[in-house]
Amino acid sequence: MEPDPVAQAGQGSWARYWAARSGHSGERDIWWALDRTKFEWLRRQLPPEGICLEVGCGSARLSTLVGTEGLRAVGLDYCAEAAALAQTSFARAGVRGDVVMGEALRLPFRDDSVDIVLSTGLLEHFEDPAPIVHEMVRVLRPGGLFYSDVVPKKFSLMCVLDGIGKGQHDHDGIPEYAFKGPQLLTMLRRLGLEAVRVVSSGVFPPRLPILGRIRAVREAQGLFCYGTRRLWSALDGTALAEWLGVYYLCVGRKTGASPGKSGSQTASRVDNLRRPKAPVAVLKD
Ligand SMILES: C[S@@+](CC[C@H](N)C(=O)[O-])C[C@H]1O[C@@H](n2cnc3c(N)ncnc32)[C@H](O)[C@@H]1O
Repeated sequence: MEPDPVAQAGQGSWARYWAARSGHSGERDIWWALDRTKFEWLRRQLPPEGICLEVGCGSARLSTLVGTEGLRAVGLDYCAEAAALAQTSFARAGVRGDVVMGEALRLPFRDDSVDIVLSTGLLEHFEDPAPIVHEMVRVLRPGGLFYSDVVPKKFSLMCVLDGIGKGQHDHDGIPEYAFKGPQLLTMLRRLGLEAVRVVSSGVFPPRLPILGRIRAVREAQGLFCYGTRRLWSALDGTALAEWLGVYYLCVGRKTGASPGKSGSQTASRVDNLRRPKAPVAVLKD
């Protein structure tokens, strides 16, 4: 297959993005607090076992948390720098996880093969994320859990000061598109999910410009946000969160579940995930 020049341009930007962040791995900043807050919301919906695939996993922060619950984490990214960070995240947390290098638009996995499919901070980078969601739903087993948090281009309290002092929102040519909740809801239902919920969320205090370049300050803010997370989460789904929140939490189930089918025998299924002849490199833990 011919390499897709648009995808390759994106890959270069993501490679630079991750190369610049490799030293930050493990930092307890505001993103650390957000991940834990999201995870507390997601955890209530997780099955006790099964395979969880994160598409566009980056450093796999959310998958790592899912892995600590005993689920088998698989992260996929098309960027080698991200794959290396994901592997480090799994190893540091003592999580059994696999990292696969591959393209989200052509997932190298069989139909109906995973129990949970998730993405975090991925879909907003595509003008039309439907082809990626279509792939995510394809590999999900009927009745399996779909989760995505979408961080669209919009006003948010957390980023309100980012423009001062050069800002912390430099995306180095990585596009970010505007989405509204109802638009996401319609897309997810159209692509084969039921019981879909899209919740406006992520109201957090502003990140600090200039001072935020100091690690200790970033960590103090991360710990503060984490300590007060229940206060902020109480606003989820309200008009205030729609206006001030930084992301949408989206969940749904793949249609067509047959009663009694669950994610059992995870270990043997993980070896059989790949589509025959799929050209992928798997980095084992
Ligand atoms: C915002 S990052 C996700 C961050 C991640 N949630 C974390 O915990 O670090 C989006 C990721 O998606 C990956 N990505 C973007 N487009 C992709 C594609 N078409 N196929 C595979 N990965 C892709 C990028 O390389 C990047 O690592």
